[in-house]
Amino acid sequence: MRLSKSVLNHLEAEAVTRVLLEDGYLGMGAEVGKFEEDIANYLKIPSSNVVCVNSGTAALHLAVDSILKPGEEILVPSLTFLSSFQAISAAGVVPISCEVNEETLSIDLKDAVNRISSKTKAIMCVHYASNPACLIELYSFANLHGLRVIEDAAHAFGCSKDQKKIGSIGDIVCFSFDGIKNITSGEGGAIITSDTNVLSIVKDSRLLAIEKDSDKRYVGQRSWDFDVYRQGYRYHMSNIFAAIGRVQLSKFELEFAPKRKALAKKYFELLNSNKYVKFQTVENDVDIVPHIMPIRVLNGERDFLKFELEKAGIPTGIHYKPNHLLSYYGGGKTSLPVTEMVYSQLLTLPLHPEITFSEVEKICELINNLLH
Ligand SMILES: Cc1ncc(COP(=O)(O)O)c(C=O)c1O
Repeated sequence: MRLSKSVLNHLEAEAVTRVLLEDGYLGMGAEVGKFEEDIANYLKIPSSNVVCVNSGTAALHLAVDSILKPGEEILVPSLTFLSSFQAISAAGVVPISCEVNEETLSIDLKDAVNRISSKTKAIMCVHYASNPACLIELYSFANLHGLRVIEDAAHAFGCSKDQKKIGSIGDIVCFSFDGIKNITSGEGGAIITSDTNVLSIVKDSRLLAIEKDSDKRYVGQRSWDFDVYRQGYRYHMSNIFAAIGRVQLSKFELEFAPKRKALAKKYFELLNSNKYVKFQTVENDVDIVPHIMPIRVLNGERDFLKFELEKAGIPTGIHYKPNHLLSYYGGGKTSLPVTEMVYSQLLTLPLHPEITFSEVEKICELINNLLH
Protein backbone atom coordinates (compact mmCIF):
# COMPACT_ATOMS: atom_id res chain seq x y z
CA MET A 1 0.00 0.00 0.00
CA ARG A 2 1.18 3.53 -0.74
CA LEU A 3 0.36 6.77 1.06
CA SER A 4 0.06 8.57 -2.27
CA LYS A 5 0.89 7.62 -5.81
CA SER A 6 1.09 8.75 -9.45
CA VAL A 7 -1.64 6.90 -11.34
CA LEU A 8 -0.81 6.65 -15.04
CA ASN A 9 -1.25 4.14 -17.83
CA HIS A 10 -0.50 3.58 -21.51
CA LEU A 11 -2.34 6.80 -22.47
CA GLU A 12 0.21 9.03 -20.75
CA ALA A 13 3.01 6.81 -22.10
CA GLU A 14 1.65 7.18 -25.65
CA ALA A 15 1.35 10.94 -25.30
CA VAL A 16 4.98 11.19 -24.17
CA THR A 17 6.06 8.90 -27.01
CA ARG A 18 4.21 11.13 -29.49
CA VAL A 19 6.09 14.19 -28.22
CA LEU A 20 9.41 12.34 -28.22
CA LEU A 21 9.09 10.84 -31.66
CA GLU A 22 6.82 13.13 -33.62
CA ASP A 23 7.32 16.64 -32.27
CA GLY A 24 11.09 16.55 -32.19
CA TYR A 25 10.98 19.35 -29.63
CA LEU A 26 11.05 18.65 -25.92
CA GLY A 27 11.24 22.19 -24.56
CA MET A 28 8.34 24.62 -24.22
CA GLY A 29 6.36 24.46 -27.43
CA ALA A 30 2.90 23.83 -28.86
CA GLU A 31 2.06 21.06 -26.34
CA VAL A 32 2.44 23.48 -23.42
CA GLY A 33 0.18 25.98 -25.18
CA LYS A 34 -2.41 23.22 -25.61
CA PHE A 35 -2.17 22.22 -21.95
CA GLU A 36 -2.79 25.86 -20.98
CA GLU A 37 -5.84 25.89 -23.28
CA ASP A 38 -7.13 22.63 -21.77
CA ILE A 39 -6.75 24.00 -18.24
CA ALA A 40 -8.48 27.23 -19.28
CA ASN A 41 -11.38 25.32 -20.86
CA TYR A 42 -11.71 23.22 -17.73
CA LEU A 43 -11.79 26.32 -15.51
CA LYS A 44 -13.89 28.27 -18.04
CA ILE A 45 -11.44 31.16 -18.24
CA PRO A 46 -9.42 32.66 -21.13
CA SER A 47 -6.32 30.63 -22.01
CA SER A 48 -4.19 33.78 -21.78
CA ASN A 49 -4.85 33.68 -17.99
CA VAL A 50 -3.00 30.36 -17.54
CA VAL A 51 0.80 30.19 -17.31
CA CYS A 52 2.34 26.73 -16.97
CA VAL A 53 5.70 26.31 -15.24
CA ASN A 54 7.84 23.38 -14.15
CA SER A 55 6.62 23.10 -10.53
CA GLY A 56 4.11 24.45 -8.05
CA THR A 57 7.02 25.99 -6.15
CA ALA A 58 8.08 27.86 -9.30
CA ALA A 59 4.48 29.05 -9.75
CA LEU A 60 4.43 30.44 -6.20
CA HIS A 61 7.88 32.00 -6.55
CA LEU A 62 6.96 33.80 -9.78
CA ALA A 63 3.64 34.91 -8.30
CA VAL A 64 5.35 36.42 -5.24
CA ASP A 65 8.13 37.91 -7.38
CA SER A 66 5.60 39.55 -9.72
CA ILE A 67 3.77 41.55 -7.03
CA LEU A 68 6.19 42.06 -4.13
CA LYS A 69 9.58 43.69 -3.64
CA PRO A 70 12.45 42.29 -1.55
CA GLY A 71 12.00 43.21 2.12
CA GLU A 72 8.20 43.35 1.90
CA GLU A 73 6.13 40.94 3.97
CA ILE A 74 3.45 38.38 3.20
CA LEU A 75 1.16 36.68 5.72
CA VAL A 76 1.19 32.90 5.38
CA PRO A 77 -0.01 30.02 7.57
CA SER A 78 2.89 28.19 9.15
CA LEU A 79 1.07 24.88 8.56
CA THR A 80 1.99 24.36 4.93
CA PHE A 81 4.55 22.56 2.83
CA LEU A 82 8.00 24.14 2.90
CA SER A 83 7.47 25.17 -0.75
CA SER A 84 5.17 28.04 0.20
CA PHE A 85 7.87 29.50 2.47
CA GLN A 86 10.78 28.81 0.12
CA ALA A 87 8.92 30.43 -2.78
CA ILE A 88 8.46 33.55 -0.67
CA SER A 89 12.01 33.79 0.63
CA ALA A 90 13.42 33.03 -2.84
CA ALA A 91 11.89 36.35 -3.92
CA GLY A 92 13.60 38.13 -1.00
CA VAL A 93 10.18 38.59 0.59
CA VAL A 94 9.61 37.87 4.30
CA PRO A 95 7.10 35.14 5.19
CA ILE A 96 5.17 36.14 8.32
CA SER A 97 4.08 32.90 9.98
CA CYS A 98 0.45 32.90 11.07
CA GLU A 99 -1.79 30.56 13.02
CA VAL A 100 -4.36 28.28 11.44
CA ASN A 101 -8.00 28.20 12.35
CA GLU A 102 -8.38 25.05 14.42
CA GLU A 103 -11.52 23.92 12.60
CA THR A 104 -10.68 24.59 8.95
CA LEU A 105 -6.86 24.37 9.16
CA SER A 106 -6.62 27.45 6.93
CA ILE A 107 -5.00 30.77 7.88
CA ASP A 108 -6.52 32.30 11.02
CA LEU A 109 -7.42 35.86 10.03
CA LYS A 110 -7.91 36.90 13.67
CA ASP A 111 -4.29 36.02 14.31
CA ALA A 112 -3.05 37.35 10.95
CA VAL A 113 -4.47 40.83 11.54
CA ASN A 114 -2.13 41.28 14.53
CA ARG A 115 0.88 40.51 12.35
CA ILE A 116 0.25 43.21 9.74
CA SER A 117 2.98 45.87 9.56
CA SER A 118 3.69 48.74 7.18
CA LYS A 119 5.67 46.23 5.07
CA THR A 120 2.81 43.75 4.70
CA LYS A 121 1.60 43.77 1.11
CA ALA A 122 -0.01 40.38 0.55
CA ILE A 123 -1.52 37.28 2.10
CA MET A 124 -0.88 33.73 0.90
CA CYS A 125 -3.63 31.32 1.87
CA VAL A 126 -3.09 27.59 1.57
CA HIS A 127 -5.98 25.33 0.60
CA TYR A 128 -4.84 22.74 3.11
CA ALA A 129 -5.96 19.23 2.19
CA SER A 130 -7.86 20.74 -0.76
CA ASN A 131 -10.13 22.87 1.44
CA PRO A 132 -10.57 26.39 0.01
CA ALA A 133 -11.82 27.60 3.38
CA CYS A 134 -13.29 30.99 4.26
CA LEU A 135 -12.55 32.52 0.85
CA ILE A 136 -15.14 35.27 1.24
CA GLU A 137 -13.70 36.32 4.60
CA LEU A 138 -10.18 36.10 3.17
CA TYR A 139 -10.89 38.42 0.25
CA SER A 140 -12.78 40.89 2.50
CA PHE A 141 -9.78 40.88 4.84
CA ALA A 142 -7.42 41.50 1.92
CA ASN A 143 -9.58 44.35 0.59
CA LEU A 144 -9.84 45.93 4.02
CA HIS A 145 -6.07 45.92 4.51
CA GLY A 146 -5.09 46.64 0.90
CA LEU A 147 -3.37 43.27 0.41
CA ARG A 148 -2.89 41.16 -2.71
CA VAL A 149 -3.89 37.48 -2.41
CA ILE A 150 -1.91 34.48 -3.61
CA GLU A 151 -3.81 31.22 -3.23
CA ASP A 152 -1.51 28.25 -2.74
CA ALA A 153 -3.91 25.85 -4.41
CA ALA A 154 -1.33 23.06 -4.81
CA HIS A 155 -3.82 20.64 -3.20
CA ALA A 156 -6.96 22.12 -4.70
CA PHE A 157 -7.05 21.42 -8.41
CA GLY A 158 -10.66 20.59 -9.31
CA CYS A 159 -12.17 21.94 -6.07
CA SER A 160 -14.90 24.56 -6.11
CA LYS A 161 -16.44 27.25 -3.99
CA ASP A 162 -20.08 28.09 -4.65
CA GLN A 163 -19.90 25.96 -7.83
CA LYS A 164 -17.00 28.00 -9.19
CA LYS A 165 -13.74 26.16 -9.72
CA ILE A 166 -10.72 27.32 -7.73
CA GLY A 167 -8.66 29.23 -10.28
CA SER A 168 -11.72 30.66 -12.02
CA ILE A 169 -12.11 33.17 -9.19
CA GLY A 170 -9.55 34.94 -7.03
CA ASP A 171 -6.52 37.16 -7.42
CA ILE A 172 -3.51 34.91 -8.19
CA VAL A 173 -3.95 31.15 -7.89
CA CYS A 174 -1.08 28.64 -8.05
CA PHE A 175 -1.47 24.92 -8.75
CA SER A 176 0.99 22.06 -8.49
CA PHE A 177 1.00 19.11 -10.87
CA ASP A 178 3.76 17.14 -9.15
CA GLY A 179 3.68 13.36 -9.20
CA ILE A 180 1.08 12.80 -6.50
CA LYS A 181 -1.29 15.74 -6.95
CA ASN A 182 -4.93 15.58 -8.15
CA ILE A 183 -3.53 15.64 -11.68
CA THR A 184 0.15 15.29 -12.47
CA SER A 185 2.32 16.37 -15.36
CA GLY A 186 5.30 14.52 -13.85
CA GLU A 187 6.41 17.76 -12.29
CA GLY A 188 4.71 21.05 -13.05
CA GLY A 189 2.53 23.87 -11.93
CA ALA A 190 0.46 26.79 -13.15
CA ILE A 191 -0.21 30.40 -12.26
CA ILE A 192 -3.75 31.58 -12.94
CA THR A 193 -4.74 35.22 -12.86
CA SER A 194 -6.66 37.80 -14.84
CA ASP A 195 -4.20 40.54 -13.85
CA THR A 196 -2.58 41.44 -17.17
CA ASN A 197 0.42 43.03 -15.49
CA VAL A 198 1.15 39.87 -13.48
CA LEU A 199 0.56 37.73 -16.57
CA SER A 200 3.04 39.65 -18.65
CA ILE A 201 5.67 39.50 -15.87
CA VAL A 202 5.33 35.77 -15.16
CA LYS A 203 5.19 34.80 -18.84
CA ASP A 204 8.54 36.51 -19.31
CA SER A 205 10.03 35.45 -15.95
CA ARG A 206 9.53 31.75 -16.61
CA LEU A 207 11.86 32.09 -19.62
CA LEU A 208 14.78 34.05 -18.14
CA ALA A 209 12.71 37.26 -18.42
CA ILE A 210 13.31 37.44 -22.16
CA GLU A 211 10.76 39.99 -23.30
CA LYS A 212 7.65 38.48 -24.93
CA ASP A 213 9.34 35.18 -25.87
CA SER A 214 6.62 32.93 -24.39
CA ASP A 215 3.99 33.14 -27.12
CA LYS A 216 6.59 32.67 -29.87
CA ARG A 217 7.55 29.29 -28.38
CA TYR A 218 4.06 27.97 -29.06
CA VAL A 219 4.52 28.46 -32.80
CA GLY A 220 8.06 27.11 -32.94
CA GLN A 221 9.80 30.49 -32.89
CA ARG A 222 11.96 32.35 -30.41
CA SER A 223 13.47 35.80 -29.91
CA TRP A 224 17.04 36.23 -31.15
CA ASP A 225 17.26 39.96 -30.62
CA PHE A 226 15.74 40.74 -27.24
CA ASP A 227 15.97 42.83 -24.13
CA VAL A 228 15.64 41.94 -20.43
CA TYR A 229 14.30 44.23 -17.69
CA ARG A 230 14.20 42.00 -14.61
CA GLN A 231 15.55 38.84 -13.05
CA GLY A 232 14.12 35.73 -14.71
CA TYR A 233 14.25 31.98 -14.16
CA ARG A 234 14.31 28.73 -16.15
CA TYR A 235 10.87 27.73 -14.94
CA HIS A 236 9.09 27.00 -18.22
CA MET A 237 7.21 23.73 -18.65
CA SER A 238 8.44 21.17 -21.18
CA ASN A 239 6.32 19.57 -23.90
CA ILE A 240 6.87 16.19 -22.20
CA PHE A 241 5.32 17.40 -18.94
CA ALA A 242 2.45 19.04 -20.81
CA ALA A 243 1.69 15.84 -22.74
CA ILE A 244 1.31 13.92 -19.45
CA GLY A 245 -0.76 16.72 -17.90
CA ARG A 246 -3.17 16.85 -20.83
CA VAL A 247 -3.99 13.15 -20.55
CA GLN A 248 -4.36 13.40 -16.78
CA LEU A 249 -6.76 16.33 -17.14
CA SER A 250 -8.85 14.36 -19.63
CA LYS A 251 -9.28 11.62 -17.00
CA PHE A 252 -9.83 13.89 -14.03
CA GLU A 253 -13.60 14.46 -13.87
CA LEU A 254 -14.67 10.90 -14.71
CA GLU A 255 -11.93 8.89 -13.04
CA PHE A 256 -9.72 10.59 -10.47
CA ALA A 257 -12.08 13.10 -8.87
CA PRO A 258 -14.99 10.69 -8.15
CA LYS A 259 -12.62 8.05 -6.75
CA ARG A 260 -10.80 10.47 -4.46
CA LYS A 261 -14.10 11.89 -3.23
CA ALA A 262 -15.64 8.47 -2.63
CA LEU A 263 -12.59 7.26 -0.67
CA ALA A 264 -12.62 10.38 1.50
CA LYS A 265 -16.35 9.90 2.12
CA LYS A 266 -15.72 6.31 3.22
CA TYR A 267 -12.98 7.43 5.65
CA PHE A 268 -15.38 10.04 7.03
CA GLU A 269 -18.25 7.56 7.43
CA LEU A 270 -16.09 5.00 9.20
CA LEU A 271 -14.09 7.31 11.47
CA ASN A 272 -16.23 10.33 12.21
CA SER A 273 -18.04 8.70 15.12
CA ASN A 274 -14.73 7.92 16.85
CA LYS A 275 -14.44 10.60 19.53
CA TYR A 276 -10.65 10.67 19.22
CA VAL A 277 -10.66 11.41 15.49
CA LYS A 278 -11.34 14.87 14.10
CA PHE A 279 -11.70 15.97 10.47
CA GLN A 280 -11.25 19.50 9.21
CA THR A 281 -14.45 21.54 8.80
CA VAL A 282 -15.59 22.20 5.25
CA GLU A 283 -18.18 24.83 4.34
CA ASN A 284 -21.42 23.67 2.69
CA ASP A 285 -20.79 25.47 -0.58
CA VAL A 286 -17.31 23.98 -0.97
CA ASP A 287 -16.73 20.91 -3.12
CA ILE A 288 -13.45 19.15 -2.39
CA VAL A 289 -11.42 16.73 -4.48
CA PRO A 290 -9.12 15.58 -1.68
CA HIS A 291 -5.40 15.35 -2.40
CA ILE A 292 -4.46 14.09 1.08
CA MET A 293 -6.47 12.55 3.93
CA PRO A 294 -5.32 14.08 7.22
CA ILE A 295 -7.10 13.34 10.48
CA ARG A 296 -6.39 14.75 13.93
CA VAL A 297 -5.80 12.24 16.71
CA LEU A 298 -7.21 13.84 19.84
CA ASN A 299 -6.10 11.49 22.62
CA GLY A 300 -2.39 12.34 22.48
CA GLU A 301 -1.61 8.95 20.90
CA ARG A 302 -0.81 10.10 17.34
CA ASP A 303 2.71 8.63 17.38
CA PHE A 304 1.49 5.34 18.82
CA LEU A 305 -1.18 5.12 16.11
CA LYS A 306 1.36 5.95 13.40
CA PHE A 307 3.67 3.24 14.70
CA GLU A 308 0.92 0.62 14.89
CA LEU A 309 -0.43 1.43 11.41
CA GLU A 310 3.02 1.20 9.91
CA LYS A 311 3.58 -2.11 11.71
CA ALA A 312 0.45 -3.34 9.92
CA GLY A 313 1.84 -2.22 6.55
CA ILE A 314 -0.18 1.00 6.36
CA PRO A 315 1.99 4.00 5.48
CA THR A 316 1.07 7.33 7.05
CA GLY A 317 2.38 10.89 6.83
CA ILE A 318 2.44 14.13 8.78
CA HIS A 319 1.41 17.20 6.80
CA TYR A 320 3.22 19.34 7.86
CA LYS A 321 5.99 20.30 10.22
CA PRO A 322 5.12 23.99 10.77
CA ASN A 323 7.59 26.26 9.01
CA HIS A 324 8.05 28.68 11.94
CA LEU A 325 9.82 25.83 13.76
CA LEU A 326 12.49 25.53 11.04
CA SER A 327 15.80 27.27 11.76
CA TYR A 328 15.70 29.27 8.51
CA TYR A 329 12.28 30.67 9.40
CA GLY A 330 12.89 31.59 13.04
CA GLY A 331 13.45 28.21 14.72
CA GLY A 332 10.33 28.56 16.89
CA LYS A 333 11.05 32.12 18.11
CA THR A 334 7.45 32.94 17.22
CA SER A 335 5.06 30.88 19.26
CA LEU A 336 1.99 29.57 17.41
CA PRO A 337 0.26 27.39 20.00
CA VAL A 338 -2.72 26.31 17.89
CA THR A 339 -0.51 25.33 14.94
CA GLU A 340 1.87 23.45 17.25
CA MET A 341 -0.99 21.61 18.94
CA VAL A 342 -2.56 20.66 15.60
CA TYR A 343 0.85 19.52 14.32
CA SER A 344 1.19 17.12 17.26
CA GLN A 345 -2.19 15.57 16.33
CA LEU A 346 -2.05 15.35 12.54
CA LEU A 347 -1.80 12.03 10.78
CA THR A 348 -2.28 11.56 7.05
CA LEU A 349 -3.88 8.31 5.88
CA PRO A 350 -3.38 6.67 2.46
CA LEU A 351 -5.30 8.29 -0.40
CA HIS A 352 -4.91 7.95 -4.15
CA PRO A 353 -7.17 6.63 -6.92
CA GLU A 354 -5.81 3.08 -6.72
CA ILE A 355 -6.63 2.55 -3.03
CA THR A 356 -9.58 0.18 -2.70
CA PHE A 357 -12.64 0.62 -0.49
CA SER A 358 -11.77 -2.59 1.34
CA GLU A 359 -8.32 -1.17 2.10
CA VAL A 360 -9.99 1.91 3.58
CA GLU A 361 -12.28 -0.35 5.63
CA LYS A 362 -9.27 -2.28 6.93
CA ILE A 363 -7.42 0.94 7.86
CA CYS A 364 -10.45 2.38 9.64
CA GLU A 365 -11.15 -0.86 11.51
CA LEU A 366 -7.60 -0.86 12.80
CA ILE A 367 -7.81 2.80 13.82
CA ASN A 368 -11.11 2.23 15.61
CA ASN A 369 -9.61 -0.76 17.44
CA LEU A 370 -6.55 1.23 18.46
CA LEU A 371 -8.37 4.43 19.45
CA HIS A 372 -11.18 3.73 21.87
C1 LIG B 1 0.88 23.25 -0.01
C2 LIG B 1 1.87 23.08 -1.13
N1 LIG B 1 2.38 24.18 -1.72
C3 LIG B 1 3.24 24.11 -2.74
C4 LIG B 1 3.68 22.89 -3.22
C5 LIG B 1 4.72 22.87 -4.29
O1 LIG B 1 4.41 22.17 -5.42
P1 LIG B 1 5.55 21.41 -6.26
O2 LIG B 1 5.88 20.15 -5.55
O3 LIG B 1 4.89 21.19 -7.57
O4 LIG B 1 6.72 22.33 -6.36
C6 LIG B 1 3.18 21.72 -2.66
C7 LIG B 1 3.59 20.41 -3.20
O5 LIG B 1 3.90 19.45 -2.67
C8 LIG B 1 2.26 21.81 -1.58
O6 LIG B 1 1.78 20.71 -0.99
